[in-house]
Amino acid sequence: MRKVVIDPIARIEGHLRAEVEVDKNGVVQEAYVSGQLFRGIEIILKGRDPRDAGLLAGRICGVCTNSHFRGAVSCVEDAYALKIPKNAEIVRDLMAMALFIQDHVVHFYHLHSLDFVDVTSALNANPKLTSKEAHKYSKNPFRNSNTHYEEVLAKLQNFVKAGKLGPFSNGYWGHVDYKLTPEQNLIVISHYLEALKFQTKISKAVAIFGGKTPHPQSIVVGGVTSVADMLNPQRLNDYLFIIKEAKEFIDRAYLPDMKLITSAYKAEIKAGAGRANGNFLSVGGYEFEGEQRLFCNGVIYAHDFENIEEFDETKVTEEIDRAWYSGDAKENEVCYTDLNADGSLKTAKNDDKYSWVKAPRYDGKPMETGPLARVLVSYAKDNTLIKSFVDEFLQETELELIDLSTTVGRNCARAIETSYICEYIFKLVSRLIQNIKYYDTDTWVRFDFNTLEKDAKGRAFLEVPRGVLSHFVNIKNQKIDNFSVIAPTTWNATPKNFDGVRGAYEEALVGIKIEDTSKPLEVLRVLHSFDPCLACAVHIIDTKGKELSRYRIKTL
Ligand code: NI
Repeated sequence: MRKVVIDPIARIEGHLRAEVEVDKNGVVQEAYVSGQLFRGIEIILKGRDPRDAGLLAGRICGVCTNSHFRGAVSCVEDAYALKIPKNAEIVRDLMAMALFIQDHVVHFYHLHSLDFVDVTSALNANPKLTSKEAHKYSKNPFRNSNTHYEEVLAKLQNFVKAGKLGPFSNGYWGHVDYKLTPEQNLIVISHYLEALKFQTKISKAVAIFGGKTPHPQSIVVGGVTSVADMLNPQRLNDYLFIIKEAKEFIDRAYLPDMKLITSAYKAEIKAGAGRANGNFLSVGGYEFEGEQRLFCNGVIYAHDFENIEEFDETKVTEEIDRAWYSGDAKENEVCYTDLNADGSLKTAKNDDKYSWVKAPRYDGKPMETGPLARVLVSYAKDNTLIKSFVDEFLQETELELIDLSTTVGRNCARAIETSYICEYIFKLVSRLIQNIKYYDTDTWVRFDFNTLEKDAKGRAFLEVPRGVLSHFVNIKNQKIDNFSVIAPTTWNATPKNFDGVRGAYEEALVGIKIEDTSKPLEVLRVLHSFDPCLACAVHIIDTKGKELSRYRIKTL
């Protein structure tokens, strides 16, 4: 048995380390996944005014800023039983939905696509054949002229000639596990470059109601402050125009690219490559009174899509047996034990603590959360909004529902979700206009902080791009006494607990065959498919940072 250590895993937010044990055939038998930087915003929040919780918690992460901002404000509102006006809810949803789109597109193209796409192979593509190939996956492919592909090729050749691959440097180019043809590679790379422009456009949609992004400013305890934008038809139009453009890109580039990758990796999908334990958690959300929710809530155990439990928040616990904490899981008492006597890093062992990520459990079990969980739970619960999108995709790709519970399938679920979120946004905007038309222009609820309860407890459970986010606050004498966060990546990147049961990342790695242990592309592919955000799961910078700032792969 050999050990392969990748630390840190690149192209994610924050620092993740993976240690896998492989047999003589290169097949992963055991995995330890570890968050390598301490989280501590909760400690900074202690003693603060609860009305400041959102602005501080938003700093947990540079990507998921809006999610933590809203999560913290919502849990303070829950503590004080403040019900915010409908308009404020819609504006918060409009910001969140734009973030879902931005996050998913950036994740696939800029954080993950190069695990499937070989840039050097694209140099051999024939532009004419590329254009023809793109028609297999879309009736109207995005920017599909010969001239466009010639331009992209010229750009790539210039990168190579100058010896500067830019965003494409340090890839495992030529790896045997890259299965796309040169033409298929060129299609996705063309979209990779287009998605760079897309990033800026879609960020503007968040900023229209958030004031700015990242770190929007417009959510306050009791409502929102973006009143002028909400009432200005031109601003609503600007927002809608961006979403319409986004939908074009999603339907003509992103979804077709997932069909293309599905066709190339069909055998891996059918073999269940990257499948975790089949436990899925979705808390649901985003609904209008009397109408269907965008996402259903529910819990699936071991891929049993027939018997779905309703989500019950009292079943959520957080364990620290194998994480670097002592005392109560919610108290954040640090207990770092990962150094040998000489100061070098220990490797994970059966009985050691090995991660800064705590271990959330639902009814004692590890769960997978995220777009795949939302799609599966909502589909199994007959959510009509989602069902038609999923059915169409499965039919065109000749996949079954279970096939989505794989590395590639996880990406398909994310792309499907992005497409139907656009549809949902159009409904949201018309609902906002309708409300305003009927003279409901309330955007916040008036309250006198001094007359509120001195001691209160609140919590918020939200679906955010990467999955279930929960914030908990305990207020004593009008100050935050304790604050706790369970981010989506905390669920997925959980370490083992006393029972040794693997979490989603670790379980998905077991059984994967690594062709070349000096280039563990397969490990990156599995982990990236979850869209890890370790900045969220653990989030204080280690100022010493010596060992962790270097990228290294070690075969032991
Ligand atoms: Ni994050």
